[in-house]
Amino acid sequence: MARSEFQSLPGTRDLLEPDASRFRSLVDLFAVEARNAGFGQIVPPMFEDVGVFVRLGEASDVVSKELYAFEDKGGRSIALRPEFTASVCRVYSQHRQILPWKTWYAGPSFRYDKPQKGRFRQFDQVGAEVIGSNDPDIDVEMIALAWRFFAKLGLTDVTLLVNSLGDAEDRPRYLRALQDFFSSRADELSEQALETLKVNPLRVLDSKRPGDAVVAAEAPVLVDFLSDDARAAFERVKAGLDALGIPFTVAPRLVRGLDYYTRTAFEFASASLDAAQNALGGGGRYDGLIENLGGPPEPGVGFAIGVDRTLLACDAADVFRPTDLSPQVWVVAVTDGTEGLRLVEELRQSGIRADRSFDGRSMKAQMKAANRSGAEIALIIGDDEVASGTVSVRTMRGDGQQESAQRAEIVEKVRSLLS
Ligand code: HAM
Repeated sequence: MARSEFQSLPGTRDLLEPDASRFRSLVDLFAVEARNAGFGQIVPPMFEDVGVFVRLGEASDVVSKELYAFEDKGGRSIALRPEFTASVCRVYSQHRQILPWKTWYAGPSFRYDKPQKGRFRQFDQVGAEVIGSNDPDIDVEMIALAWRFFAKLGLTDVTLLVNSLGDAEDRPRYLRALQDFFSSRADELSEQALETLKVNPLRVLDSKRPGDAVVAAEAPVLVDFLSDDARAAFERVKAGLDALGIPFTVAPRLVRGLDYYTRTAFEFASASLDAAQNALGGGGRYDGLIENLGGPPEPGVGFAIGVDRTLLACDAADVFRPTDLSPQVWVVAVTDGTEGLRLVEELRQSGIRADRSFDGRSMKAQMKAANRSGAEIALIIGDDEVASGTVSVRTMRGDGQQESAQRAEIVEKVRSLLS
């Protein structure tokens, strides 16, 4: 077959069946868990004023390198969202909801990332945010929501890393200590790390370059610089996770890829995926972000899970398999077609998955289509059946038995055969 002139762009992909249905089932499952936990859905626009995202942190790759930003025909500087949290904060500032405001979302985000397995330029996330409470129990509930979702998918090899990034007031002391430490080891750091060091020393901890990572592993850790309040909150989060039986590892150098985090930060990783893209999701507190975006000084906490990676992890673990999309019934009509039209409609109205052939195909061609479709039952209507008010019912599996049923009772007959 000739290839079409256009192909999908790097970092994008076309979701076809059965993946598309599986994708939808995953989002549906998340929706149920979120709803059960008291979250309402939000559907923000996919693009915003670029300023909404720039506040995420100019030192993060997501903003400095990966933003799809451009000027629209009206001369506005806009950007496709690289994530949802900033949009949720903008929405809250604009529409003010009763607090605490609990909201969940699902949809695509865009990052000009280097495409590879599990890393796309358009990728999907499901996630949830709570605005307006400082209670560390909410942090625990957020983690528990994600954990329950993974468990419902059947993913059991997920590991949870947690850290506390402290309050804005804890940062300067820590940043100074980090700056001093990295400066004393400057000759061992990559050029990129030295550049990052000038903007945000925290980001150097996140460097994936092996040489940088060796140095970062010895850097001072934030937990040693926490205020009493932040420390108590972190203890409460850990105790809450223990109380719910959610296993976790404290990762004192976990800083996450975005700059807005305060206090709790966490990440879920899958043991079945390669290290470069094994993060299934992550999140944490962002107590200064809404204010930073010009809104009220409300705290927030949330997480997002990468749908594509989560499905890859499901593949690796052989769980959450695609569902069978085959029709249950194939209608073979060799009359003028009107009978076929009526019969599939009646079956579908009764909630039975039914389909048929078109274009006046021969009986033989229609039976072949019935076979290929994977249907369990073929219903055959020819002139004889129309004359006698019956339908021939053939079971497609096993020995392919055929019997005659009354046309008026066909839905009941199909139901009893399918059960
Ligand atoms: P994030 O860690 O940047 O956090 O993204 C969350 C998840 O989205 C990642 O763990 C990964 O599974 C997926 N992801 C990110 N980039 C890509 C990509 N290029 N291709 C495929 N999947 C990707 C956030 O987005 C924060 N908004 C989470 C949050 C919510 N924090 C507080 N509230």
